Amino acid sequence: MIFTVTLNPAMDKTVVIERFAPDAVNRVQQMRTDPGGKGVNVSKVIVRLGGESVALALAAGRTGEAIGDALRQMGIGTDFLYGPGETRTNLKIVDPVLRQNTDINEPGPQTAPEAAQALLDRLLHRLAPGDIVVLAGSLPRGLPADTYAVWTRACRAAGARVFLDADGEALALGTAAGPELIKPNGDELARLTGRDLRTHAEIAQAARALIVRGVERVVVSLGAEGALFVDAASVTYGPGIPVPVGSTVGAGDSVVAALALAAARGMTQEETMRLAMAAGAANVMCSGTQPASREDVEALLPRVTLVKEE
Ligand SMILES: Nc1ncnc2c1ncn2[C@@H]1O[C@H](COP(=O)(O)OP(=O)(O)OP(=O)(O)O)[C@@H](O)[C@H]1O
Ligand SMILES: [Mg+2]
Repeated sequence: MIFTVTLNPAMDKTVVIERFAPDAVNRVQQMRTDPGGKGVNVSKVIVRLGGESVALALAAGRTGEAIGDALRQMGIGTDFLYGPGETRTNLKIVDPVLRQNTDINEPGPQTAPEAAQALLDRLLHRLAPGDIVVLAGSLPRGLPADTYAVWTRACRAAGARVFLDADGEALALGTAAGPELIKPNGDELARLTGRDLRTHAEIAQAARALIVRGVERVVVSLGAEGALFVDAASVTYGPGIPVPVGSTVGAGDSVVAALALAAARGMTQEETMRLAMAAGAANVMCSGTQPASREDVEALLPRVTLVKEE
């Protein structure tokens, strides 16, 4: 099973407003809500691609319940731990005329470390050796920066395979705990290693420094440029597939979902990289609120090229 963990989920509320103007009354033309947060997004893509996933989350209030309901309707298993307060709602204002996107993100409720520990205990209770655990996204207020490190060590000790997608201190400490895979983008890897990374050789060298310290695979996503797949034995570059851009939001989450699904299915290294590249590009083609369909992803597979750099 693939378990995703979202410690700071959100209901994403997208409103379409033509000529959005601050300091004025704005009328909404279209509106929709989607369950969000990075782990939740990964679960959505996995299920879209025909896989199975259980989303674990720290949730609160009616918004938390609505996220759980929406996920179950999509065929995603849920295991939510409820705490006080209200899960955040993130407002996305899409202006199709001025071609601007404005995000207004709430911080989310203050979270007690005991709540995170209780959710971890639940996960450990149902975890079997070989299961995949995806830890993704920012930590809510109140949780210590070593939260992903603690989760990584505990899940590894239970025989699970840990995939980590985070940033800053949470990523740095989590990486030191030795997850199987991390998927930083170029900026995140630069912050993580404290280096300015320009060339593929520099990126690969920075990734290798992490591999020496216990990570098996580093997938560095580079936006429109594509991605670099680095392990102890090889460096492979997947150039970005030129596609019409709908929204690049969540492209990284689609890559993580593809990597997790490929691992669960025992796909070869090459099949894995192909699926990851197609999933990222397919996401970009979509408007952003819903993941790409399996057909969209499969249609892009023949357009993936892979270049061995080492
Ligand atoms: N403009 C684009 N055109 C084509 N492919 C893209 C584009 N942007 C992203 N991709 C694909 O999606 C993958 C992931 O994108 P990116 O590196 O932006 O992830 P990210 O920064 O982690 O994003 P997020 O955290 O918002 O999901 C890239 O490796 C690439 O394959
Ligand atoms: Mg990302």
